[in-house]
Amino acid sequence: MSRTVLHIDASARHAGSVTRELSALTVARLNADTVLYRDLASALPQIDETWVNANFTPADQRDALQRDTLTLSDQLVDELRRADTIVIGTPVYNFSVPTSLKAWIDQVARAGETFRYTADGPEGLLTGKRAVVIIASGGTAVGSEIDFASGYLRHMLGFMGVTDVEIIAADKMALDAEAAQKSAEDAIAALAA
Ligand SMILES: Cc1cc2nc3c(=O)[nH]c(=O)nc-3n(C[C@H](O)[C@H](O)[C@H](O)COP(=O)(O)O)c2cc1C
Repeated sequence: MSRTVLHIDASARHAGSVTRELSALTVARLNADTVLYRDLASALPQIDETWVNANFTPADQRDALQRDTLTLSDQLVDELRRADTIVIGTPVYNFSVPTSLKAWIDQVARAGETFRYTADGPEGLLTGKRAVVIIASGGTAVGSEIDFASGYLRHMLGFMGVTDVEIIAADKMALDAEAAQKSAEDAIAALAA
């Protein structure tokens, strides 16, 4: 059982969103004690020059503005640390992830916090966690060479140490929405709680 789940939705849509419905189903299936929720539709700020400089300044040398600038990022990283399981519901937008989800990744991928550089290369720090990623698409087959979403998400999660990643696709919805949704629902029902 997942004690704490971090539930993230990235679709710009609320009404009729397939990924929101399926991510909620996934969270229910996991039967968590605590669910932390982030709706990325109300966009996170993009990282900017102040943010980048603050992030590269050692924590004990940051001034008040730099500490302020990183407050949201610190909160998002803390949510990831607290989670045993991360559930991400995301559409494919323009063959990749929505900018809302990319903004979240930019906020949480931080050297010294979620990964670190070692003599042997980068090492993810968010170890011992599991992720379930629900991806919906209109025509792009998840796992195909024009899907730049699922491989990217798997890589970024792994880069931060989350290597146990399950991808559940409700893809090619435009071709057969019912079949795509049913196969995703079946995969969710088969998830280990
Ligand atoms: C801005 C935008 C871009 C999209 N780009 C793609 C795409 O590149 N490939 C694809 O298969 N579907 C694409 N779609 C379709 C969505 O992936 C599909 O409708 C999905 O169900 C949306 O997720 P949601 O139902 O949770 O909102 C796009 C949809 C939107 C709104």
